[in-house]
Amino acid sequence: MTTYDVSELRQRLASLPRLSLATLPTPLQEAPRLSESLGGPRILIKREDLTGMAMGGNKIREFEYSIAQAVEAKCDVLLHSAAAQSNQSRQTAAVAARLGLRSVIVGRQDSHAQLQGNLLLSHLFGAEINLPPMNEQGDTVKATMQRLRDEGCRPFNTSSDGADYRGIAYVDGFCELYDQLQSMDVTPDAIYVCSGAHTHTGLVVAARALGLPWRVVGVSPSERDDEKAAKQHVELAERHARILDLDVEVTTKDLESYAEFVGEGYGIVTEGSQQALQVTAQTEGLLLDPCYSGKTMAGLMAHIDRGWWTKDHTIVFLHTGGTPALFAYADELGLETPALDGLD
Ligand SMILES: Cc1ncc(COP(=O)(O)O)c(C=O)c1O
Repeated sequence: MTTYDVSELRQRLASLPRLSLATLPTPLQEAPRLSESLGGPRILIKREDLTGMAMGGNKIREFEYSIAQAVEAKCDVLLHSAAAQSNQSRQTAAVAARLGLRSVIVGRQDSHAQLQGNLLLSHLFGAEINLPPMNEQGDTVKATMQRLRDEGCRPFNTSSDGADYRGIAYVDGFCELYDQLQSMDVTPDAIYVCSGAHTHTGLVVAARALGLPWRVVGVSPSERDDEKAAKQHVELAERHARILDLDVEVTTKDLESYAEFVGEGYGIVTEGSQQALQVTAQTEGLLLDPCYSGKTMAGLMAHIDRGWWTKDHTIVFLHTGGTPALFAYADELGLETPALDGLD
């Protein structure tokens, strides 16, 4: 196990293919009214929702490294398949447009398939969009990949292809955050992040490579077994380390993650996430999203309530974006369309 400095990490990152997509560095902002209202720690928000392109979010940073692999392999179609309101589908379509590639989205007929939010934006970016019934989504992806190959295309599935490089982007993101914290003379007690996987694993690899003992606390957006997820994430972290030729050890203890804030399931608003969205909006004028950052903030709020974090602590909350999905969630957020009587 070796300890590296930031410039060594940056040197290794610089040897990899990379696209320029995000507006970096993203801001690191104080959230004093949020801290006060929670009666808790100092909170600094790392604004990965402000990566710039196509309404931002963590994937724009991730795609700088992962879609660089598609360009290297001369792929000409970017495909993505997920929920109808997937952020990654919107970001895939936007990046394809920027690179002059074709984009194909295989969404699904779920409860947020209205032409709003991310789905609306994917249309604007010119994606070919298919929304099969939920139980046909997997087969539709396979058939679509085959059809594209039969047409002579080279499709790149942004979920799986180049996935090990997505976390690499957050080794880079961590270096950026580290510099910002150094210049503010702040040592955080923990970094909170939505733990799909890659943002979390990238941050942890960087923290361990730099020999920093900071906790990186993940909050899962979907139901899962935390222990099993930690094991899978260790393997992903090991793959990031191999790509960067780093001699670091990452254990399941380093990949702390909590699935208990998901509620009924992925993308379903909970009482905690609704409260998190409202408090953050009403104290800081800051938007979270219903599927990812809202639940992560609900996790942080619960941990503050449990006494994990007090006024003596400093927490970095990494905001991974996703706010366009809000526009498809009026009902779940308890908002009703006002009657328009009297208007023509
Ligand atoms: C807003 C938002 N946050 C977090 C994630 C998780 O991303 P990753 O697994 O790449 O860290 C996603 C993507 O699924 C997302 O759209």
